[in-house]
Amino acid sequence: MGGHELLHPTSSPFAALLLFLCLLEFCCKVDDVIVHGFPLHQIDSGLIEEKSILVPDTSLISTPQPFIPLLAPSPMTPFFSNSTPKLSGRCTLNFSAVDSLISTTAVDCLSSFAPLLANVICCPQFQAMLVILIGQSSKNTGMLALDSTQANYCLLDYQQILESRGASGNLEQICSIHPLNLTEGSCPVNDISEFESAIDSSKLLLACERVDAVNECCSQICQNAIREAATKIALRDGGLTSMDISNNLPEHYSRIDGCRSIVLRWLSSRLDPLSAKHVLRRISNCNVNEACPLVFPDTTKVTEYCGNRIKNNTACCSAMDNYVSHLQKQSFITNLQALDCASLLGLKLQKMNVTTNIYSFCQITLKDFSLQESGCLLPSLPSDAMFDPSSGISFTCDLNDNIAAPWPSASGAPTSFCNKSVNLPELPAATSAHIAENEKDMKLPLLIALLVVLQMLS
Ligand SMILES: *[C@@H]1O[C@H](CO)[C@@H](O)[C@H](O)[C@H]1NC(C)=O
Ligand SMILES: *[C@@H]1O[C@H](CO)[C@@H](O)[C@H](O)[C@H]1NC(C)=O
Ligand SMILES: *[C@@H]1O[C@H](CO)[C@@H](O)[C@H](O)[C@H]1NC(C)=O
Ligand SMILES: *[C@@H]1O[C@H](CO)[C@@H](O)[C@H](O)[C@H]1NC(C)=O
Ligand SMILES: *[C@@H]1O[C@H](CO)[C@@H](O)[C@H](O)[C@H]1NC(C)=O
Repeated sequence: MGGHELLHPTSSPFAALLLFLCLLEFCCKVDDVIVHGFPLHQIDSGLIEEKSILVPDTSLISTPQPFIPLLAPSPMTPFFSNSTPKLSGRCTLNFSAVDSLISTTAVDCLSSFAPLLANVICCPQFQAMLVILIGQSSKNTGMLALDSTQANYCLLDYQQILESRGASGNLEQICSIHPLNLTEGSCPVNDISEFESAIDSSKLLLACERVDAVNECCSQICQNAIREAATKIALRDGGLTSMDISNNLPEHYSRIDGCRSIVLRWLSSRLDPLSAKHVLRRISNCNVNEACPLVFPDTTKVTEYCGNRIKNNTACCSAMDNYVSHLQKQSFITNLQALDCASLLGLKLQKMNVTTNIYSFCQITLKDFSLQESGCLLPSLPSDAMFDPSSGISFTCDLNDNIAAPWPSASGAPTSFCNKSVNLPELPAATSAHIAENEKDMKLPLLIALLVVLQMLS
């Protein structure tokens, strides 16, 4: 991913402002528009989280200050409140009914930072917002999908509104959303009454009205209910039979996928917008944490110096450092994604005859897989970015990130976080107390799982 793309001037005044300030005062190489974090001071166990401030980096000076001069209030405020979006006037979605959530989305997808937060924060929120918009408007229209004309106008208007609040002008591409994603796709059901006659809606609502942020990814209570409902409506009208579904054909998947959107919109119509957002984001977190979003460049240089028997330690580790520095330009990732990435890269290297644990040999930590050194790993349950006119954009980091990256075991079988037969070791008492004190206990189970895996792999 080239930094020039990130800085490409968009129609957003905020992006223009950034670019201007960049040119004016700061060097404008891609690599420099990244994160300026507070020092990630690690207290005892380090199981705490802190904010990181996302602003153009001054590179040389690394004072642990929020970046006030650049994002001072006076030039910022007008861009965030006064720009009026040019709307088509032909989209019937009620954007004002979900105004505060739209602002949240705009901050999550803020101008040139959107690609850096795309996978974990921006796109999940952008997509959830579309589901909620259609779900809420279905209360008036009775429809759980837009027709294709509406879909075009509404997506344009949505993008315009977000852009007027500082968001990137390129979200359709960044998040691969197409107007068709707002229609029913190939799902045979698109209105509320047919939907409710086809499924057990109270059962679905019960499973999903309160999604447990920590346990849902393993228990899959809501996700199973959604899958079941989507499959059931995909079977309507005889177009698809249970036999077809067991045959696993791609077109059947896409049909069930389309129906899944219908189910999510219906759920969003049954909840208030904020609760709907929590449900949708918690479900999407499960998918986010399942895969490493990084693109791995060619590993030839690393295998050349680190493969078979390492002849020159310095050359091997400098090849590895150089390799990792390319990963660090890509995006922010969560701690669990970093584990996925470490495992994926480790297996790739092992296939190329790198037998030494070069993560430990070259002191590669989990944090090294996320954006840039002073950046951070996001927690496994990432929260929204926040905007403060005086300090810029900030989001929560997981400070538990200086852990050595785990070198995958030769057997290659990844340890499932959800395997109940894995014994959890006792955490040191001080750690638990510390977490409780900071009211971070919600996150404890996932962090324990993380520690277990690290221990098993080391
Ligand atoms: C849109 O939502 C707002 C806020 O909930 C409400 O006041 C307004 O009447 C709605 N407009 C339409 C056309 O439904
Ligand atoms: C939108 O639809 C396209 C084509 O049907 C699909 O490939 C893509 O994954 C969808 N995007 C989302 C976010 O669901
Ligand atoms: C090891 O590699 C470094 C850097 O590539 C080089 O400067 C050094 O001379 C090499 N050492 C040996 C013993 O080959
Ligand atoms: C790995 O080593 C084996 C045996 O030493 C060799 O046959 C194979 O070609 C090597 N593979 C690579 C990718 O270097
Ligand atoms: C859970 O872990 C145990 C022991 O590591 C293993 O034998 C078992 O197959 C695992 N179960 C699943 C479902 O992965």
